Amino acid sequence: MTRFIYLSDTHWGTDKPSYSMQHAEPNKLPELLRAMEEWIAKKGPVDFVLHGGDMIDSTSRKNIDFVAQAFQLSVPVYLCLGNHDLTCSNAVEMWLDRAPHFFLGKINFSIETSDCSLHVVPNQWGPVPYHWNDVQKPYFLLEQEKFINNELSRNPNRVHVLSTHSPFHGVPVEQTGLKNLLHQPPRVFQEKGYSILRTHRNLQCILSAHSHINTRIEQKGKYLVTSSSFVEVPFDFKCINISNDQITMSTHSLLDQTNFKSNYYDFTKTFVQGRECDRTIGS
Ligand SMILES: [Fe+2]
Repeated sequence: MTRFIYLSDTHWGTDKPSYSMQHAEPNKLPELLRAMEEWIAKKGPVDFVLHGGDMIDSTSRKNIDFVAQAFQLSVPVYLCLGNHDLTCSNAVEMWLDRAPHFFLGKINFSIETSDCSLHVVPNQWGPVPYHWNDVQKPYFLLEQEKFINNELSRNPNRVHVLSTHSPFHGVPVEQTGLKNLLHQPPRVFQEKGYSILRTHRNLQCILSAHSHINTRIEQKGKYLVTSSSFVEVPFDFKCINISNDQITMSTHSLLDQTNFKSNYYDFTKTFVQGRECDRTIGS
């Protein structure tokens, strides 16, 4: 059995993130992590925590050094780099130098457990690899596509999960009540994701972040998932279980576990938390 926590978009290093879907408290990250540790102690064990990206709001030695320390938890923490983690051209060097424990030696890597392979592959954004400069055109480098295909072809008898920062799907109208899909990705990137999902029989789930919205799309018994921001009210994170070749997922809030008071400020966006079906897989 494999059990891990998935959270994202903590945006450490700013009071006011440039993008948020609900009231954000990035400065409360240390307290939220303490509350999550208490949850792990009560409801665990878990094997590791996977951060889906945008751990920091902009790349600096100071921000990386802070999160490298803050995310020293009772279990290993891994990171799929997001656009806000890559705001300078030597960001990858800085991450590998100052926080190597978030990566297994490489920015694209696989976490192997007894029954699961989880592949962490952060998508690109613009013309310079691993550098975000406001352009949002998600894609993979050729070497990343080879990595994904090679890794997904190994160990066909176990469950595979892929983690990338930018989602392959928009937020459904049934969830938002809007007229159109919200945050629909560029068609080429969307097709890439769905093709990877179709091609690899044992790829059961793709985890993404970036939108700060909980979603769960089913695609012929497989799942595309995104998470809301861990530092936005009500401070959700996901617990993912893999057992007997089946994946299950639950979403948990830390709102009642904190010592500070935080309220929803935008009740027109309660869809961010999602319906029960957007927050869970299986029972
Ligand atoms: Fe992002």
